Amino acid sequence: MDKKKLVFATNNVNKINEVKALLEACGSAVSERYEILSLSDIGCVEDIPENSSTFAGNAFQKAEYVHVHYNVDCFADDSGLEVRALGMEPGVRSARYAQDEGFDHDKEANNDKLLRNLKRIKDRTAQFRTVIVLLMDGKMQEFEGICRGEITKERSGVQGFGYDPIFRPKGYDKTFAEMTMEEKNAISHRGKAVRALVDYLKEQ
Ligand code: IMP
Repeated sequence: MDKKKLVFATNNVNKINEVKALLEACGSAVSERYEILSLSDIGCVEDIPENSSTFAGNAFQKAEYVHVHYNVDCFADDSGLEVRALGMEPGVRSARYAQDEGFDHDKEANNDKLLRNLKRIKDRTAQFRTVIVLLMDGKMQEFEGICRGEITKERSGVQGFGYDPIFRPKGYDKTFAEMTMEEKNAISHRGKAVRALVDYLKEQ
């Protein structure tokens, strides 16, 4: 049987491998049905517009762009950190939080800005959120994953990326940056959203 081609609208190799690994974990009956392709696999090198004010909007924008321009079934994701005391900021601006200070996509500057903004604030509750939008067989499906926790007072750990050194998931005494990738994937927003997507694909 021919595999169904499904494009993941990203060039992030870690994200692609995570989806492939989860599909394989479902058993050969599922992984043999789908072939996951990246943007470079289909020759998409352009900058896909992503200017919505919500994660779902951005994920839809990316998936729709690839669907319309390349005529393929595809899915896209968008994630970020939401801090309650800051009105759910940085949200969709997570990667560019410190842009107003002259830093673009700068993880250290982003972490510094967040720690500064929370300096005198008691409520440090935060959550990571991922939304995945799938456009397949003429239908749209949305999947979400949330990981609740809090922002620590200082950095701890060296693993991971982004806000990992200052995010401590609920029920744990260490930050994401102090976890192995397996530990983090088991509870992370992205892991949850990807597992929801894979569960859906399994049922098709
Ligand atoms: P993306 O949509 O997955 O590329 O995530 C956008 C931004 O959100 C990243 O550049 C990070 O700043 C932040 N972010 C999303 N997921 C994580 C995570 O698992 N750990 C730390 N930061 C994250």
